Amino acid sequence: MVIKRTKKDPASMVRAPAAPEQVVFEQSLRPKSLAEYIGQSKIKGHLLMHIQAAKSRKEPLGHTLLHGPPGLGKTTLAHILAREMGAQIRITSGPALEKPGDLASILSNLQDGDTLFIDEIHRLRPVIEEMLYAAMEDYALDLVIGKGPTARSMRINLKPFTLVGATTKAGSMSAPLRDRFINHFKLAFYELPEMQLIVERSAELLQMSLDAKAAHRIAQSSRATPRIGNRLLRAIRDYAHVQGQATVDCACVETTLRALEVDDRGLDAVDRAILDTIVTMFNGGPVGISTIAAVLAEEEETVEDVYEPYLLQQGLLQRTPKGRMATKKTYEVLGLQVPEGAQGALF
Ligand code: ADE
Repeated sequence: MVIKRTKKDPASMVRAPAAPEQVVFEQSLRPKSLAEYIGQSKIKGHLLMHIQAAKSRKEPLGHTLLHGPPGLGKTTLAHILAREMGAQIRITSGPALEKPGDLASILSNLQDGDTLFIDEIHRLRPVIEEMLYAAMEDYALDLVIGKGPTARSMRINLKPFTLVGATTKAGSMSAPLRDRFINHFKLAFYELPEMQLIVERSAELLQMSLDAKAAHRIAQSSRATPRIGNRLLRAIRDYAHVQGQATVDCACVETTLRALEVDDRGLDAVDRAILDTIVTMFNGGPVGISTIAAVLAEEEETVEDVYEPYLLQQGLLQRTPKGRMATKKTYEVLGLQVPEGAQGALF
């Protein structure tokens, strides 16, 4: 059986980016300090120490690279870093910087100690990336004025600043750029108790009455990802509102999750279609990521960056040199019999 997805599919809870109104909603729930931030305790510990050291030396924080799947809090941490340093944050992204002049203008307008946040930094054009090297290393901007034999270069000094880069694909970054970051942090998926605390904190901020069992159930279906937990909470709040229910209970949560086709592991229709494609169409694999993406009419990058990390973390998929393969757990989750003589490390 191949799960066909139609235009009537429920809105994906997993895929980013969100509509502007969704972004405003998510921003309103963001923790504003490391003390308020739940989870990622090792990273928080390192950051607290670096922030304290930088402040006592009256220097900007070292350039920091945040790496991990979407929705785990890279942007939130960048805002918190700037705030904890008492600095302003300027925000841009790899794809938004089209010309070298775009970056030159941002860099030359930075104030002493500012944080520059570049999201999707792995998508910077090489010519712009090269401009960052001197900016990161020497707080300088090397400009070429004129063209041809009369061209000359000019160096402009910049104010000391901190670059915070975020990427879902640290492996796609060039070594020279990656190596210029002093601090490298890989964000991990959240533990279930952490997710429950995040859902409960958000419910409180939204002045929602949510019982502990309902919070636990939402946490279970949040793919260990705060952004998804908050999106589910919002959908559930709307459902409770329409039903005239003052307190959100488990029944309310279950009904909304069913309507969104999100199961108790947080898998949605696309996740199940990915697993089903490997198991049913390709006998458990190995199958290439481009083939899976083509069958599902999804972008390869979306399958790889948005869906796959959680499936890998859950042991529902394995990556082999020949392609993606199902595991014993994949068959169990799909309610299928594990075939005899099935291959692969996780059988
Ligand atoms: N909202 C989104 N992410 C959060 C986190 N890590 N801690 C607290 N609230 C959050």
